[in-house]
Amino acid sequence: MFNDSIQYQNGALSVDAVRAADIAAACGTPVYIYSQRRALANLGRVRQAFAGMNAHIHYSAKANASLAILRALVAAGAGVDAVSGGEIHRALLAGARPETIVFAGVGKTPAELRYALEHNVGWFNVENPDEIRLLDQLAAETGRPARVALRLNPDIAASTHPHIATGHGGAKFGLPADMVRDVLAHQTDYPHLRFEGIHIHIGSQLHDTQATRGAVEAALNLIAPYPAIQTVNIGGGLPAAYTPDETMPSPEDFAAALKPLLAGYTVLLEPGRSIIADAGILVVTALYRKQQAGQTFLITDGSMAELIRPALYDAYHEIVPLLQPAEGAARCPVDVVGPVCETADVLGRSRLLPDIRPGDLLAVLTAGAYGWVMASNYNQRPRPPEVVVSGDGQTWQITRRRETWDDLARLEESGYHPPA
Ligand code: LLP
Repeated sequence: MFNDSIQYQNGALSVDAVRAADIAAACGTPVYIYSQRRALANLGRVRQAFAGMNAHIHYSAKANASLAILRALVAAGAGVDAVSGGEIHRALLAGARPETIVFAGVGKTPAELRYALEHNVGWFNVENPDEIRLLDQLAAETGRPARVALRLNPDIAASTHPHIATGHGGAKFGLPADMVRDVLAHQTDYPHLRFEGIHIHIGSQLHDTQATRGAVEAALNLIAPYPAIQTVNIGGGLPAAYTPDETMPSPEDFAAALKPLLAGYTVLLEPGRSIIADAGILVVTALYRKQQAGQTFLITDGSMAELIRPALYDAYHEIVPLLQPAEGAARCPVDVVGPVCETADVLGRSRLLPDIRPGDLLAVLTAGAYGWVMASNYNQRPRPPEVVVSGDGQTWQITRRRETWDDLARLEESGYHPPA
């Protein structure tokens, strides 16, 4: 059992009550499968953990922007953290009310800011002085005052992978404390902005609560002189467990660490991974097994094009056969790799797997977050379909079909002429 939704049932890996192999048989592989039930349970758990505070959850769409997933989370009351015009568009398509959308991002374009203003997006997390001036000007032009949370870079090193740490002084994210102080002291220079919040996000997959505590303290110090600032957006970063024995701080741990600090404030959260990572799997088929250079390679039809996290961050994802191995089955170490022409094209190194033969199916676990959304068409690989097992646990739908070779060529066919 990996979690309440992803487990072996009668020897078959299942997503809720649906056998993953049945979905693979109908849709082919590689295929992403998500449990709506698990995503909603995760949302409920975060909500419950922060229940004693005036907390609002804005699901971070960058983790998994599937419309079906967004719709389910929005219907369950989540707002959305969007980081581009495209994500705002999706959030609106999924039924999010504009005022429940926060617009974050280190490089918002004028067109994106204008779009967000025109659609009455609830919050702008602002990250640099030029952006503040531009937003003020666009807010004046569109006649829509903008509600702003300044993003503080607290210069605090989060305990996580360097690629996803964002709160240290050397990162491109946020405003250093003295700049936040300066902007707040000159608020009246920006008559079309309402400075009502402060935002931090020190990294993703956070291994401890202490760094976040320190960042929140720094943020609270900065806003203390400004009673109009009553909202603290603590970002995302709640971790997921990628191995069965991994002990990571829970949403309850984060809530307990932050609650004493945040009493009286409105708290916004932007969780992504903790909502959707363990609700998703990527199912692949073994193509070949080859022994070479003292290693055994298991070559599958899934690759770094579908799931780039192992190649990009050396991230660990559990890989298991869809057919539960017999107790005590002999296992040997294999490198699970894909067909892409890159040595980095690895899904898992030195995995102790039972005898997997061509045609056998494997699942890469905890692939619901930063999986499909980071997929590419490298090597002209069509991106895989996405399947959602509904909240009833029994029925499932292909919520996005597999791309075709024609899809990949469509935008450059003779019909498309770039603007002169
Ligand atoms: N808010 C902000 C401002 C963020 O930058 C992020 C993630 C989140 C919220 C959501 O964080 P989460 O709750 O998911 O940790 N591709 C990487 C993760 C990149 C995270 C980027 N920012 C990975 O696959 O690990």
